[in-house]
Amino acid sequence: MDVFTAISQRTSVRAYKVTPVEEDKLKKILEAARLSPSSSNRQEWKFIVVKNKETRKKLVNAAFGQSFIGEAPVVIVACGTESKSIMACGQPAYTVDVSIACAFMILQAYELGLGTCWIGAFKEDETKKILNIPENVRVVAMTPLGYPNQPPSDKSRKRLDQIVCFEKYE
Ligand SMILES: Cc1cc2nc3c(=O)[nH]c(=O)nc-3n(C[C@H](O)[C@H](O)[C@H](O)COP(=O)(O)O)c2cc1C
Repeated sequence: MDVFTAISQRTSVRAYKVTPVEEDKLKKILEAARLSPSSSNRQEWKFIVVKNKETRKKLVNAAFGQSFIGEAPVVIVACGTESKSIMACGQPAYTVDVSIACAFMILQAYELGLGTCWIGAFKEDETKKILNIPENVRVVAMTPLGYPNQPPSDKSRKRLDQIVCFEKYE
């Protein structure tokens, strides 16, 4: 599968089979995070792989009851371990770095036939308590990971001419 095929065909998956994720596939997905770029190549991140059923249930609660998170056999919780570094452009590096790594994992998962769904609606404090995450570490996102139990949904996107301009902001 080429990159554009993965980008254009991937959609969020909100129903999962109980089928376990093969270890070699999981490792490749985590490798995609490891190899992704980061500000000054600092790699200040940690990816927590959660398989324990009870812990996944707790994460569902932390994510306002989004039950499909607990249906998937794996949940990956993506953290920034250094929240203080601000790039020259004014953006915190960790949100950008961890988001890129998550995007790479999501595309790699798709190529391997696995579904994901970026989860931004979660209570960070509760998530940190569940997973024993230190106070200074920030949770940027989580995603369930597993085999989809739903047909691919349609992609609804703005047209290119609505989001692109040339030479100056219009
Ligand atoms: C930053 C971010 C946060 C999101 N949070 C959630 C979430 O908490 N729950 C959920 O079901 N989907 C969530 N999504 C998925 C979006 O709803 C989805 O990507 C968007 O509707 C486009 O659909 P697609 O992923 O199927 O192409 C999130 C996506 C992003 C990028």
